Amino acid sequence: MTTSPATDAPIQLHTDPARVIAVASGKGGVGKTWFSITLAHTLAFAGENVLLFDGDLGLANVDVQLGLNPSRDLVTVLSGDVALEEAVTRYSSGGNVGFDILAGSSGSGALGALSGHDVIPLAKGLRMIASRYDRVIIDLAAGLDPAVTMLAASADKMLTVVTDEPTSLTDAYAFIKVMHRHKPDVPAHVIVNMAENVGSGRRTYESLRKACASFLKIEPPLAAIIPRDPKIKDAIRHQTALLSRHPQTAAAKALGVLASELDSQTT
Ligand SMILES: Nc1ncnc2c1ncn2[C@@H]1O[C@H](COP(=O)(O)OP(=O)(O)OP(=O)(O)O)[C@@H](O)[C@H]1O
Ligand SMILES: [Mg+2]
Repeated sequence: MTTSPATDAPIQLHTDPARVIAVASGKGGVGKTWFSITLAHTLAFAGENVLLFDGDLGLANVDVQLGLNPSRDLVTVLSGDVALEEAVTRYSSGGNVGFDILAGSSGSGALGALSGHDVIPLAKGLRMIASRYDRVIIDLAAGLDPAVTMLAASADKMLTVVTDEPTSLTDAYAFIKVMHRHKPDVPAHVIVNMAENVGSGRRTYESLRKACASFLKIEPPLAAIIPRDPKIKDAIRHQTALLSRHPQTAAAKALGVLASELDSQTT
């Protein structure tokens, strides 16, 4: 049995999990990249073989937060210089614990410059390479560009990150709406991030749930409420994974619980 470093809660590995998980938001800056890295790391601690895909192709969010300097990235894949599997970088946090990364490229231009069509080969390659992993996490770019929704559509499950800011709520709703029309079979779950407390986190979730129920006739389940936690900023400032620098902090514990429930959450 494997456990989360933050909670020591047993993490059940299922034979048929939602293998590819897209982390979305609509609005930028709500915590998608930090969350994606920490979820990948938590699952790696649990013994899963994990790939983290930086879907923010032009901005290299993941490697900057982890202090990596990969020689190959997804932009070199898109330009045809290397195959997808050749662009994988290994992140190791000591011992045998680590995960693979397909990195974005800093300063090469935003994903918005790509059309949905441009991203199709990448999405297909990702599905193929996914069979080698227990889990693939896609850290999506902000926005609703076709390239973003195309990558999201290659997932088995979508985790939509939202905060209590009205713009975050409206953008998360817009993302869920577009994806529901485009790919209704990909279930959307909600992550409330930067919650001041459980009560306010629940209220944020309820606002989004009610909008989805009224206008889309769907009720995306709540997957987790993650507290506002100053240790996250500290870890990012030091370009170190949260689970390496502050494994017992409240946000890390929330991720441990989420990871242990990931495959049992209803769609
Ligand atoms: N639970 C939290 N508590 C406190 N600060 C947080 C929390 N989650 C994220 N942050 C802060 O929010 C900022 C943005 O985080 P991050 O880069 O992961 O967001 P993002 O959604 O990936 O942004 P972008 O859309 O630009 O890619 C970071 O500076 C981080 O410190
Ligand atoms: Mg990001």
